[in-house]
Amino acid sequence: MTKLLALLTLLGLASASTVDTDNWVGRNIYFILLDRFAGGTPGCQNGKEWCNGNIRGVTKQIPYIKKMGFDAVWITPVVKQVEWRDNWNGTGYHGYWAKDFNKIDEHFGTPEDLKQLSQTLKENGMLFMLDIVANHVGPLHGLDDVASLGDGLNDLSGEQFHQLAHFDEVDFEEYLKNPYTMMEAGDACWPYYDFGHGCNETVILDGWFGDLGDLNHEDEPTAQYLLKWIGDMQKNYDIDGFRLDTALYIPKPFLEKFQEEAGVYITGEVVTYNQTLHSSFQDGSALTGLLNFPITEFVKPTFSVGGGVNFVDFASLLENQKSLYSSVHLLTNFVDNHDGDRFLTNHTLAQLENALTWSWLWHGIPSFYYGTEVPTVAEATDCRASQWNDETGEFLDGSEGKIGELMTNLNEIRREFGLAFGGVNAASLGAVLKADEEGWMAFERSGLLAVVSNGDPKTACFKSPCCPTGEDLLKVGARGEEEPNVACDGEEVCVELVDGAPLVFNIESCKETKM
Ligand SMILES: *[C@@H]1O[C@H](CO)[C@@H](O)[C@H](O)[C@H]1NC(C)=O
Ligand SMILES: *[C@@H]1O[C@H](CO)[C@@H](O)[C@H](O)[C@H]1NC(C)=O
Ligand SMILES: *[C@@H]1O[C@H](CO)[C@@H](O)[C@H](O)[C@H]1NC(C)=O
Ligand SMILES: *[C@@H]1O[C@H](CO)[C@@H](O)[C@H](O)[C@H]1NC(C)=O
Repeated sequence: MTKLLALLTLLGLASASTVDTDNWVGRNIYFILLDRFAGGTPGCQNGKEWCNGNIRGVTKQIPYIKKMGFDAVWITPVVKQVEWRDNWNGTGYHGYWAKDFNKIDEHFGTPEDLKQLSQTLKENGMLFMLDIVANHVGPLHGLDDVASLGDGLNDLSGEQFHQLAHFDEVDFEEYLKNPYTMMEAGDACWPYYDFGHGCNETVILDGWFGDLGDLNHEDEPTAQYLLKWIGDMQKNYDIDGFRLDTALYIPKPFLEKFQEEAGVYITGEVVTYNQTLHSSFQDGSALTGLLNFPITEFVKPTFSVGGGVNFVDFASLLENQKSLYSSVHLLTNFVDNHDGDRFLTNHTLAQLENALTWSWLWHGIPSFYYGTEVPTVAEATDCRASQWNDETGEFLDGSEGKIGELMTNLNEIRREFGLAFGGVNAASLGAVLKADEEGWMAFERSGLLAVVSNGDPKTACFKSPCCPTGEDLLKVGARGEEEPNVACDGEEVCVELVDGAPLVFNIESCKETKM
């Protein structure tokens, strides 16, 4: 290895992939579930039905998203969806059930709408991330369903699909009546991945995800179909990055080719607690990025009182990542997404402020789930509630609310302290853990000192590089009027977490007058 490469590797900037990811370092993402964000129908039932939110609705709201300081937008998949329901009576409103990869679903809009969105984002200096599924198509219940898929997917031989038939030989038509699903291997295989307890790699890669037709990446025409498709999508719509659904269930040799063909940052969905397994999808040349599931799985219990996991555990998981991953700066951190109850359904606002402050100031590419800034959406039991008025269809603007303001402030802080895209510290400077105790942790990054907690008011004492004052406090959330007490004694600083709100100090000037 050359000295330069060794240095870059040390800094976590080198990867075996030739894909350039520099345009993503320091970005922050606003994540949109297309059918439920903007432009949809009043009186929509949400749940499993289409609500007709669409691409034009997103384009119209770019100024809204930009105003809060976000500089990348991720939208759920746009390709043509199956018209039929799955075995659990659901529809493809979420976009994850492809019928034809080469068409745009009319519910979402037209190819022109998609180009317009991409162009509008570029004009605003923002990046466009498209969600894609390459592991499976929509639900398949018989040969008629297969026949109606798009060209390249509709061969009645079924060779384009895995047919792990309880390891017996049956014909494809028979197989469709009872495909082998990962769920059959029990909890060991789904949703978490644990070899040895009835789960093995064959089941993971070749088993079906419920009734969703599992694509066979070892079948050469199928692999070529997907590789051509990803390249075409990237070029046709000038896409800056992809979010890859169910990446855990796709063989790594294929992922490697897929990443090269995409030519841009891909953040993969690999849902597991196992950091060794998780990081192996970024190592070598598989994917450039990953959604940070091994951490996110613990965000809800950590940022709560008595959740069974505390900040000592959380901090240790975060510290482990620094040596495990080829680049922690390309991990996508998040608090909420579309696959679980929203954070606010069982947490306080102060706890949410703390969790968001952690995700925004820690290293990585933070992602914010649409609607978290709108109380009625953020507190809804349906985590995919639409962000428009149910009676009038009018878009619900949360930018001036408490969370909208928090995000605006955090994004401003990222820019001011060189952590945002193009900032001097975005790529090179990771967060440094200063202290962690059961209910809180403190970390330093680029002239910032942040103390985040489980929202319980308390005093946090730790060794600090210097003694910040109340004047060094930066405005983040909706903290009360009361200034927190900061007391220094020797090398130790004690800060009072008033109302359990997160504290962020500018320690640039206090560092000069070391204690
Ligand atoms: C499926 O969902 C539709 C729409 O919500 C509903 O009208 C119908 O009764 C459901 N069917 C079953 C079998 O649950
Ligand atoms: C994988 O697990 C399945 C289901 O339990 C089992 O039938 C199969 O023999 C296993 N394969 C290997 C290679 O261990
Ligand atoms: C975690 O994943 C690694 C790599 O796949 C595997 O060797 C290890 O056994 C897994 N650990 C657990 C606890 O499942
Ligand atoms: C909130 O609910 C989630 C499941 O959605 C659970 O994992 C978590 O422990 C709950 N937290 C609290 C504080 O109840």
